[in-house]
Amino acid sequence: MKIVVAIVSCALALGAFAQGTPKYLDFTAPLEERVEDALGRMTLEEKVKMLHAQSKFSSAGVPRLGIPELWCADGPHGIRGEVFWDNWDNAGWTNDSCTAFPALTCLAATWRPELAREYGRAIGEEARYRGKDVLLAPGVNMLRTPLNGRNFEYLGEDPLLASKMAVPYIEGVQSNNVAACLKHFALNNNELNRNTCDVHVSDRALFEIYLSAFKAGVVEGGAWAVMPSYNLFENRHACENPRLIKEILKGDWDFDGITVSDWGGVHNTDLVIDGGLDLEMGTGTDGLTANMNAYDTYHMANPYLERLRDGRASVEELDDHVRRVLRTIFRTSMAPSHWKGRFTCPEHYATARRIGAEGIVLLKNDGVLPIAENVRKVLLVGENAVKMLTIGGGSSSLKAQKEISPLQGLSEALQGKAEVAWERGYIGAGGVIYNNVKSRDFELLSERRDSAALVADAVEKARNADLVIFVGGLNKEEHQDCEDRDRLSLNLPYGQDALIEALADANPNIVVVNISGNPVAMPWAGKVAAIVQDWYLGSEAGNSLADVLTGTVNPSGKLPFTIPYRLEDTPTWGDGRRYPGIQRADSHISDIYYDEDILIGYRWYDTKKIPVQFPFGYGLSYTRFDIGTPTVSRTDSIYTFTMDVSNIGSLKGAETVQIYVSAPKVKGLVREAKKLAGFAKVDLLPGETRSVSIDVPVSVLAYYDEETASERIVPGKYVFSVGASSAELLHKINVRYDEK
Ligand code: BGC
Repeated sequence: MKIVVAIVSCALALGAFAQGTPKYLDFTAPLEERVEDALGRMTLEEKVKMLHAQSKFSSAGVPRLGIPELWCADGPHGIRGEVFWDNWDNAGWTNDSCTAFPALTCLAATWRPELAREYGRAIGEEARYRGKDVLLAPGVNMLRTPLNGRNFEYLGEDPLLASKMAVPYIEGVQSNNVAACLKHFALNNNELNRNTCDVHVSDRALFEIYLSAFKAGVVEGGAWAVMPSYNLFENRHACENPRLIKEILKGDWDFDGITVSDWGGVHNTDLVIDGGLDLEMGTGTDGLTANMNAYDTYHMANPYLERLRDGRASVEELDDHVRRVLRTIFRTSMAPSHWKGRFTCPEHYATARRIGAEGIVLLKNDGVLPIAENVRKVLLVGENAVKMLTIGGGSSSLKAQKEISPLQGLSEALQGKAEVAWERGYIGAGGVIYNNVKSRDFELLSERRDSAALVADAVEKARNADLVIFVGGLNKEEHQDCEDRDRLSLNLPYGQDALIEALADANPNIVVVNISGNPVAMPWAGKVAAIVQDWYLGSEAGNSLADVLTGTVNPSGKLPFTIPYRLEDTPTWGDGRRYPGIQRADSHISDIYYDEDILIGYRWYDTKKIPVQFPFGYGLSYTRFDIGTPTVSRTDSIYTFTMDVSNIGSLKGAETVQIYVSAPKVKGLVREAKKLAGFAKVDLLPGETRSVSIDVPVSVLAYYDEETASERIVPGKYVFSVGASSAELLHKINVRYDEK
């Protein structure tokens, strides 16, 4: 019977080919008609084959119909090197070394959505060139705890900022006929116990904080793919979670793309069928075993087929999944476009360099930056001045075509002007790979000196330098900024705090460049002359940093997260309920309670009046700005704030004007002291004044009302404050909101 069906459908397909182009191959036909046409030609077996992996990163297309495989790639900072069909090992290709773009934390720190579009366009071009249909990016989980090992792959602690950056990133990627895959949906805010923690969160925090950027990515950005995460929510794994996938994503948000499981995130056939997932990836150890194809054992392979055959699973739902996969293929590899993308080109490096420099945040400057003309001897101290930071960190690890280290970048920028030396200063975690200047020529830096000798040598040289630049921070090793583990402390690792203090004692002209994707404690902040928050900047890391330190680029980054003083000050601190959760007595699951509710990041510190080291939205420039008194006008749905912004210094630069809103108090309702309502970045020449307008939708006044399960605006007085960071808000404007 099966053979007869196959022969008949094969003959039908051939017949269709003989009579002319079948509709699904007609690139000019409307997408949905192509989808229906292809669906109608497929056998049950072919349909099921599309819904699970056939290799580490691909799913089968329909070979009989000439519908190609669907290829996914990490993400989010470059196109991951090829791994083997069946395992994670590097496949050893020689044509897959990509451009490494800056980490998403850096992109968020630019506060410039146009750059997110440029980023998305460029990385999408690299994906298209490499034949990837789904880019597993961007990551839009909120920074809930600074210990989360994956915050570097995300866009900070504010849902509005993350949304404003994610949407153009997605549009840029998809303009290349590559699907952006928003991840990790949802509530994957820690890596520790990521597969076994069940998140308990109020609906209000869920919708106001944690789902906001996902919603924007789907509804405004039109993302074609979403990746449900590893963790549980309401006692169901996210990949098997009908509330998240069916009700919210596909129902409320009308998402018509595919949900792709996080790799290995599916655990149970009946639950995943009920949950509404479309594509199962990475389950167990796969590959070819002695007598069968192990991919056939995936939950959404033979076990699903059996249930479809005996009526336990619905064919209607199967068809919905298949439609989504077909739609994705017709939007990507079978789209009506001949564009093949481009790869590792000067334009992409320029984009990486520009975004890198623009995201760097100057946190403190007692006048040592930009590096003065009379500086002759510069000493760099610290491993991150030479360590390859495109490698490591988990799935976002890259095989980069090149990576300019800070030592290289600064040496080149200061050539002929100053002598640049380097001292190691500390030894980081083992297994480290160093860049031996030429790309892909790695070496392990051997070290005979012990820690005390390393510090002593660095201090000794620091005494004789005109300027000391410490380049340290975290790295991509386990328990630093790295997937599958969380950090163990807010402080810098490897004795760096003591080293910085010793260096500062030896030479007050010291700049600390902290490279991390997370806030770190800075107990030495008062003792150093300048602090620069740097990020994982990818291929052009050293050049971007040199651009800022030498003043070629005037820093304009602003923090996408708060830097607290102590871990005890953070919203998840306590008896373990909030983080890392409480282990259930009878199972391997732990329960994690988001008791801080909507109060994450600056919402927490502001509301609880907890002093912080550096506030959200903060960042200095080498010039100075003045933000004039704003005026406000209103249409039915939008407030428009208009103000003059002036550059009152002597260098060209860019300022980000930020608007926050504080809502009237309501008994029994948690209110954040304020939240970000809008922002705009403006470029200004010295002495220039520009009028800047920022639109803020009236809906920003709303909170999520759990009783009515909808957004609600309480009538009353709302206070907008305008300024250069969440802590420098000079102008206040009161607005009354009355119900109509
Ligand atoms: C990560 C995802 C990634 C996937 C494929 C998982 O471990 O959580 O972000 O896209 O692997 O590499």
